Amino acid sequence: ETLKMLVNNNEANEQSYSQAIDLLNQGEVVAFPTETVYGLGAVATNDSAVKKIFEAKGRPSDNPLIVHIGTIEEVSNYIEEIPDNAKKLMDCFWPGPLTIIMKAKKGLLAPSVTAGLSTVGLRMPNHEVALRLLRKLQKPVAAPSANRSGKPSPTKAVHVEEDLQGRIPLILDGGATGIGIESTVLDVTVTPPVILRPGGVTKEMLEQVIGTVILPTKNQQKLDSTPKAPGMKYTHYAPNAPVYLIEHNKKEIELAIRQLKKEGHKVALLAPSSYQDIKADYFFPYGNEGNKEQMSAKLYDDLRACDKTEATIILATTTTTEGVGAAIMNRLEKAAGNKWYKNRE
Ligand code: TXA
Ligand code: MG
Repeated sequence: ETLKMLVNNNEANEQSYSQAIDLLNQGEVVAFPTETVYGLGAVATNDSAVKKIFEAKGRPSDNPLIVHIGTIEEVSNYIEEIPDNAKKLMDCFWPGPLTIIMKAKKGLLAPSVTAGLSTVGLRMPNHEVALRLLRKLQKPVAAPSANRSGKPSPTKAVHVEEDLQGRIPLILDGGATGIGIESTVLDVTVTPPVILRPGGVTKEMLEQVIGTVILPTKNQQKLDSTPKAPGMKYTHYAPNAPVYLIEHNKKEIELAIRQLKKEGHKVALLAPSSYQDIKADYFFPYGNEGNKEQMSAKLYDDLRACDKTEATIILATTTTTEGVGAAIMNRLEKAAGNKWYKNRE
């Protein structure tokens, strides 16, 4: 049985935090909110505890986990030599949605956390529940997103419940997460640093602090036969019905929907709120047109909601790759397996 406990940062929730900490200290896993998505955590120095994360998620074991910490001081416990650019980034963006990959000290973290790599990704989440949990526990917490492998990451406690009910003992419910897509993953072991996964801290923001960083194009990623973020090679964020990307042009969308209905499809449309007059079978508004923060906060919830409908095809309108748009398009392209409606056979 999975217990779901409502928490915020009030003293009244002391018992819920104690229960979470007892479970973690006993080598169990606990789901908790961060500012990006919900994480499924275990003490990062306990290998058998970390293995339970992979089991509950059905996650391939060659995909390393991010280690969450509650203070910047802890970094030196796990990292051989902290590069100067990493220090600057921590000062600027922590707590926040930035994971920094650095060379790990040997033999401290559980082998399953790093999946055999010599590096580890560290991040200090900017969420009062996550921070309070980490600071009370005083141990590093390995945590991937708290979804079954392949599904969209959870942005609400109920998403965690849908995926992991009966597989984990406790979910701390801190309400909807704010950012809605996972942290930026930046590898600073190479020069210039490389963005392995775009997220809430954008290329532009990073470059203001440390100068040039590389955001590989899709083609460059394909050429690289050994992906640096092992997670990038797996299917992600996929609802049950196929997703097709479509430009946000009302006329084209209306034509597409008419055609698909003629073929017997039930169509779900993900688009800005102002597109609600288009006659899709199901409509999931992103929010105001051009508002990328609203779009990223809503995207996974919308993709999951499609699974609750009888839609046989999903059309998702796109955004530009400026700012956080790069991260949104990265997730949308994965959810769609790079399929565009205009190229549909
Ligand atoms: O926002 C987030 O980052 C959320 C919350 C819970 O913190 N966590 C999250 O974790 O998204 P996960 O495990 O779903 O994604 C971690 C990504 C994977 O693509 C993994 O391959 C990559 O980071 N990664 C982790 N450690 C790495 C390492 N040492 N080298 C390269 N990539 C690494
Ligand atoms: Mg994930």
